[in-house]
Order: sequence, then C-alpha cells, then structure tokens
Amino acid sequence: MQYSIVYSSRTGNTRRLAQSLLEVLPAEGCLYQGPVGEQALAAERIYIGFWTDKGTCDGDTAEFLAGLTHQQVFLFGTAGFGGSPAYLESILNRVRELLPPGVRYLGGFMCQGEMPSAVRKRYEAMEDSPRRSAMLENFDRAVGHPDGEDINRLWAAVRAAE
Ligand SMILES: Cc1cc2nc3c(=O)[nH]c(=O)nc-3n(C[C@H](O)[C@H](O)[C@H](O)COP(=O)(O)O)c2cc1C
Repeated sequence: MQYSIVYSSRTGNTRRLAQSLLEVLPAEGCLYQGPVGEQALAAERIYIGFWTDKGTCDGDTAEFLAGLTHQQVFLFGTAGFGGSPAYLESILNRVRELLPPGVRYLGGFMCQGEMPSAVRKRYEAMEDSPRRSAMLENFDRAVGHPDGEDINRLWAAVRAAE
C-alpha cells in the first residue's frame, strides 16, 4: 500500500516525529514525505503531523485535512502543554473532528514539544503567581521533547494502527 507522510512544523518538533516514521515504515511504499501539500493526497494512507495552535491543529494542517476525500489517516501532533494526557487527548479529538466524511481514522498520537526560549522569557517577566510557576514548570518539562521515548511511543501507536 502506498503512503505519504506530511507535516506542518514551525520549530522542528513535529518534523522530528515525521522523519522518525521513515525508520519504521517500509521505504518502498512511500509516495511522498514532506511539508503538507497536495502531492500527498494520491496515497491510500497518509500520516499527518501538526503542531498545536490554540488548542487545535495549525491552519496549514486544517487546510490539508479539508482536502482529504477517502484516504486512511493517522494523526500525530506536538503541543507545548503536555503535562496532562487528557489535554493532549482533547486536542487529538478536536483535530479528528476536522476529518471529512469518507476518511478513515486509523489512530493518533500526541506528545509534548519544546518551546522557543523567548516563551520562557515572557513567563519570567510575569508577576509571580501559581500560574506563572506552573507555566515555567511546564516550559522546563517540555525541553528536549519529542525525545527518544516519545518516538518509541509514536512507533508503537503506528504499529498498533496497522
Ligand atoms: C502561536 C502559537 C500557539 C500555540 N498554541 C498552543 C496551544 O494552544 N496549546 C499547546 O499545548 N501548545 C501551543 N503552542 C506550542 C506548540 O504547539 C508546540 O511548541 C509545538 O511542539 C510546536 O511544534 P513545531 O516545532 O512542530 O512547530 C503554540 C505555539 C505557538 C507559536
């Protein structure tokens, strides 16, 4: 079966997940691998990577999802706030709802992705509060993600979706 891997990634977190998929999927079936684009649509199965923007997928991914017709899809994404599995699950569910009728959802995966240091500087400049401490803690927890463990969990989710 032919497949594509597409992603949208501003700072590289989601691209890292996408590129890792080349190590776990059979090379001969790969029709397209790269940023979201129409070339990917001809494959029967599409692995779609997004970054989280205001609680849902980024706009480029949303546009790509709207162009799907009948394909099988696996969704994967990264989010800055990864402390709560329920939060990550809610993002995935929201993105899944964007799939047009006729598209088959095979499975999905989300993990935390590190944020640019400018974000930490913004938090540091805030007045001290429990919210500020929680945001700083979350920022520090995100550093280095996605890591090898995240990639292993992504691969397990992809294998389970076969
Ligand atoms: C404009 C903007 C909005 C964001 N909104 C959210 C959000 O609502 N929830 C969240 O968990 N992370 C949010 N993030 C963090 C990114 O989703 C996160 O850093 C992600 O891993 C970036 O992926 P990328 O490196 O592939 O671009 C936002 C980042 C930016 C720049």
